[in-house]
Amino acid sequence: MSKNFYITTPIYYVNDVPHIGHAYTTVAADVIARYNALRGDNAYFLTGTDEHGQKIMRSAEAKGMTAQELADKTVVNFQELWKALGIRNDDFIRTTEKRHEKVVQTIFSRLLEQGDIYKGTYEGLYCVPCETYVPEAQVGEGQTCPDCGRKLEKMTEESYFFRLSKYAEPLLEYYEKNPQAILPRGRYNEIVSFLRGGLMDQSISRTTIRWGVPVPGDDRHVIYVWFDALINYLSALDYPEEGGKWQTFWSVVHHLVGKDIIRFHAVIWPAMLLALGLNPPERVFAHGWWTVEGEKMSKSRGNVVDPFEMVDLYGADAFRYFLLREVPFGADGDFSERALVQRVNSDLANDLGNLLNRTLQMIDRFCGGKIPSLDEVEPLDKEIRNVLEEIVNSLDGHMDLFAFDEALKDLWSLVRRGNKYIDETMPWKLGKEENLPRLNTVMHNLCQVLRTAAILVSPFMPETARKMEEQLGLSGIFEAGKTAFSWDTSIEGASIDKKDVLFPRRDLKEWEEEKAREA
Ligand code: ME8
Ligand code: MG
Repeated sequence: MSKNFYITTPIYYVNDVPHIGHAYTTVAADVIARYNALRGDNAYFLTGTDEHGQKIMRSAEAKGMTAQELADKTVVNFQELWKALGIRNDDFIRTTEKRHEKVVQTIFSRLLEQGDIYKGTYEGLYCVPCETYVPEAQVGEGQTCPDCGRKLEKMTEESYFFRLSKYAEPLLEYYEKNPQAILPRGRYNEIVSFLRGGLMDQSISRTTIRWGVPVPGDDRHVIYVWFDALINYLSALDYPEEGGKWQTFWSVVHHLVGKDIIRFHAVIWPAMLLALGLNPPERVFAHGWWTVEGEKMSKSRGNVVDPFEMVDLYGADAFRYFLLREVPFGADGDFSERALVQRVNSDLANDLGNLLNRTLQMIDRFCGGKIPSLDEVEPLDKEIRNVLEEIVNSLDGHMDLFAFDEALKDLWSLVRRGNKYIDETMPWKLGKEENLPRLNTVMHNLCQVLRTAAILVSPFMPETARKMEEQLGLSGIFEAGKTAFSWDTSIEGASIDKKDVLFPRRDLKEWEEEKAREA
């Protein structure tokens, strides 16, 4: 049965250009959307940009532009990157769009009317880069921000407040009933114990800033950037319009975020949703943090990895594969280009590329370029089919939990089994002996493995999967829904179309010398 399924990324700040951290979350969301679509679900995938707030304004001033000019310029980098990475998002929302601002105001007015927002005064220490007041207990040495370590600024202002305190109990109840609503487990525990400490009402407007959505009816105030930003997940679905997309997709809601912004998504946002009478997200998954060659990524260190460059050098698919295979989703990871090259060589060129290449070569040579039918069967063949059917199931379980690395390990155990099957059956020998009944079976089975591998790898490496389909002489294999994941004898008779290898091997020594010359 087809299920409606909503998947989102954070909306990224436009004060800076995208780096691998942004690419990571967006690729992961793309893989989830594609996998769910493959399984027959009605998946809707949203990403976008966060364009209001002091951080953007200051950054624009420093560059001698208006905030809107900066946003208009930077947003293109994100949109171009998603194209280069093969991201298939259904919508792209910008918080400066009218369709969004309108919904922010509607929600603000409604919560004000029902008493979940009220007016008061706020006094506190504020971190400008993080766009947040820091509670006294958390202020670092020398009045610094506990997150970024920078100097805090003292601010006093009249402010509207969101009655967050009211929602600590209802949220605790929700999370106790839904232990998978926050993943991984460590993050769940962290949020639950935070909620047990109780919540303070949250200041959600500023009089000191001009760059934002005005408070309806009181435009000395603009709405706090996080309150504004979180609403993107609803405004993109035309909330609260009658018949809008939210009525279809605000059911199974999955938010992917980095661990830096888990509290906004697992505390403030679900409280806002409860206030609106909407269900909290089914899952907030907070993934880990990338460092580069063991160090924190930063402009001042000059070690920010440019995803465009990775795509140029290694292709979108290899980069996508690396990001999700290298590190368990949820754990921190370290990026190194050398590790990427090694993965391309071993997993993509050796394992996957070779399996396709060897199989197609032998079909050309011995089978007239057509996928043969099953003929003489041996016990070994049954084992191959079992492995194939088992990994289809096991991979599905891992994908349900966003355990991409485990899903890919499963898939590669099938690919490696395929290569071993070639060594065991020695089709070149069967060919020379003209043992066609046996040869046909072997080549048929290998094509079954390749077909399934192409389907299961398609959410991760869509371009590669498409090439595999084409070279196998098949069509429509990504459209068929779940039953088509496994064995399908209708492949027989297909005319293969062997092309260049999928992934050329890089000589690691030459690669190192090249890098050394560039440095
Ligand atoms: O926080 N490792 O936007 P942002 C892994 N606008 N992921 C990383 C990363 C890294 N080193 N660096 C960034 C904001 N990310 C707000 C969000 S949502 C309503 C508003 C990813 O541009 C990760 O997903 O600072 C992180 O949560 C996000 O980029 C932060 O992006
Ligand atoms: Mg950030």
